[in-house]
Amino acid sequence: MVAGSRIQLRDNIHAYGHAIPLPKAATLTPAVPEHIPELGRICYEAFKELQDRHRFPTDLASVQVARQAIGLMISRPEFYGVVAKVGDELAGSNFLSIDGEVAGVGPITVDSAFQGRDIGRQLMLDVMREARDRGIARVRLVQESFNVTSISLYAALGFETRHGLALMHPPAAASEDPSVRPAVPSDLDALDALCRRIYKVSRRSELAMFLEIGFPLFARARDGRIAAYLSPGIFGHGVAETEEDAVALAMQAARLLPEPTTVFCPVDEHPLFRAFLGAKFRTLKMMNLMTIGPYEVPERVWMPSILY
Ligand SMILES: CC(C)(COP(=O)(O)OP(=O)(O)OC[C@H]1O[C@@H](n2cnc3c(N)ncnc32)[C@H](O)[C@@H]1OP(=O)(O)O)[C@@H](O)C(=O)NCCC(=O)NCCS
Repeated sequence: MVAGSRIQLRDNIHAYGHAIPLPKAATLTPAVPEHIPELGRICYEAFKELQDRHRFPTDLASVQVARQAIGLMISRPEFYGVVAKVGDELAGSNFLSIDGEVAGVGPITVDSAFQGRDIGRQLMLDVMREARDRGIARVRLVQESFNVTSISLYAALGFETRHGLALMHPPAAASEDPSVRPAVPSDLDALDALCRRIYKVSRRSELAMFLEIGFPLFARARDGRIAAYLSPGIFGHGVAETEEDAVALAMQAARLLPEPTTVFCPVDEHPLFRAFLGAKFRTLKMMNLMTIGPYEVPERVWMPSILY
């Protein structure tokens, strides 16, 4: 979408050929900083309503946390953001990471007052078009398995479920592990090489952003080289040469961070799931990794983010 343009939702139906009834006054427009307070509210409340309904704890601790996350994505060049408006009212938003070989979708949220009126579908079609326009063939997302609306919507748009993911809470390690330390900018080449080897795609730009903004990112050194890294929490990801590296990193992260943290475990990575459970990680909920475009299964050991 061209910055500053307001496009009728109907005009935006092109790439995937769906003929859909549309809410009359809905328009799509680029997300800008003035939208942050209201989009943060919509995002927080849409997830809270869904998660309360299914009696799961909410991922976003408060409206402020939602505003911080949305604010980061609107202000950083690594993300594309689109909002839907009905009249003058903001009805929802969607985001896409656009800084790598994979475009990660989300968070997508539609105000509950406007749900079920095809706005979610339009917000999805718009970010899929954005990825295509940028030449990014791999588009991925993570959805909550109890969310029957989103899994149906994404599957109808062509996304395929690849892996079940357990969102897990690691216990804090009882003592320091000298092999685990915060990553520093000079680690970037080594982290990227490890990621390419295990994940089969580069997440270099994302890692560089984590290092730049001071997002938690830990590395484990063994035999004089980095054998694993992890950015804990739903926005982070990690790779490791062994399950033991992953366990050590997650438990040290839990020890070093002020708040309880999480890590995603692909449940078909059976040795990793068993290793996490054996170390007394708790499973909080199940989610699904869904993809469109080429997909190369990562090699063990990988821990995805809420994007992919
Ligand atoms: C998920 C969400 C963004 C969807 O937005 P929306 O505007 O309500 O969705 P739409 O009306 O565009 O589309 C919903 C589609 O799901 C379909 N759907 C809904 N429930 C379904 C079910 N149980 N089985 C099959 N299809 C279902 C609808 O029929 C519709 O498809 P259609 O357009 O082919 O008819 C919105 O519900 C939301 O914000 N939820 C809370 C936050 C959230 O869950 N975000 C997604 C995180 S993965």
